[in-house]
Amino acid sequence: MTASTPSTASTTSAPAQADAAATSTTGAASRGARVRLAGISHHYPLRHDVDHGWVPALMRLVSPAARARYEAESAKPDQLPVLDGIDLDIAPGEFVSLVGQSGCGKSTILRLLSGLETPSQGSVVVDGEAVTGTAPERALAFQDATLLPWRTVRENVALGPQARGRLEPRRVEAALQVVGLRDFADAYPTTLSGGMAQRAALARALVNRPRLFLLDEPFGKLDALTRLTLQDEIASLWASQGFTAVLVTHDVEEALRLSNRVIVLSERPAHVVEDIRVPEGLGRDEAAPEFQRLRRHILTLLGR
Ligand SMILES: Nc1ncnc2c1ncn2[C@@H]1O[C@H](COP(=O)(O)OP(=O)(O)OP(=O)(O)O)[C@@H](O)[C@H]1O
Ligand SMILES: [Mg+2]
Repeated sequence: MTASTPSTASTTSAPAQADAAATSTTGAASRGARVRLAGISHHYPLRHDVDHGWVPALMRLVSPAARARYEAESAKPDQLPVLDGIDLDIAPGEFVSLVGQSGCGKSTILRLLSGLETPSQGSVVVDGEAVTGTAPERALAFQDATLLPWRTVRENVALGPQARGRLEPRRVEAALQVVGLRDFADAYPTTLSGGMAQRAALARALVNRPRLFLLDEPFGKLDALTRLTLQDEIASLWASQGFTAVLVTHDVEEALRLSNRVIVLSERPAHVVEDIRVPEGLGRDEAAPEFQRLRRHILTLLGR
């Protein structure tokens, strides 16, 4: 278990840093959720290819090769440690990015925050309450839009509230409006571009008025130009709707462009290597020496 390194030039506690960031960027009390991950460790069970039947047992008695295979398989660990002592405080309305190597556990952190999984150890607390399951105000958007092809854009966006018996057409229209898809509300997913499908997926999350928006590489499969446009749209949605955002991305520039903080994770099992505060306004000035310095610093931490 490794403690997180404090943010570059600050000696305040993590919650105090988080509060300061939220107030300075949103300027007012935010409607976003407060998030606390405390001492989170997580592992997945590993399956062993060991057959305990009597035929393989006999084979092991007569065949040294079968015995060696059995012993090697039995000696493998039965758990895959994924997260190792993650402590993280996120203030209401903060925009935090998680970066780390592939397979280090970033999506696992989002799944824990959404309530799709519970941690092996530690606690996930949102707005003072332990997360025990999913909730519409904690929305998760994935790399793939995963729209239902037999439903129109409007019907896809309406799906969640409809399933809960709380369909408010006005909200569906507002969500479509906010992502610029009003004119495509009756289109089917197969007729949409990648960027439009991703916008529909964002609307499907936004219709629940999330207080915590979890974004798992939502732009990962889009071309560079669409990606930049959608980044701008997420930034303005965040500014106007005041949700707390946790974004997983492999793109360091994207993280710096959008976030108040960039959390750099180690290889699996992941711990926080550094919690980096992004100075206000820096994301809008990629040419700034400080932007480039932070970009290089993060890439170095990621071993590139
Ligand atoms: N349900 C599961 N059962 C077993 N192992 C799993 C499960 N989900 C994830 N893993 C493993 O946990 C590790 C972390 O997975 P995770 O999806 O969180 O990584 P990631 O950092 O999001 O990777 P990427 O950047 O490639 O998306 C991986 O090694 C993965 O194989
Ligand atoms: Mg992932």
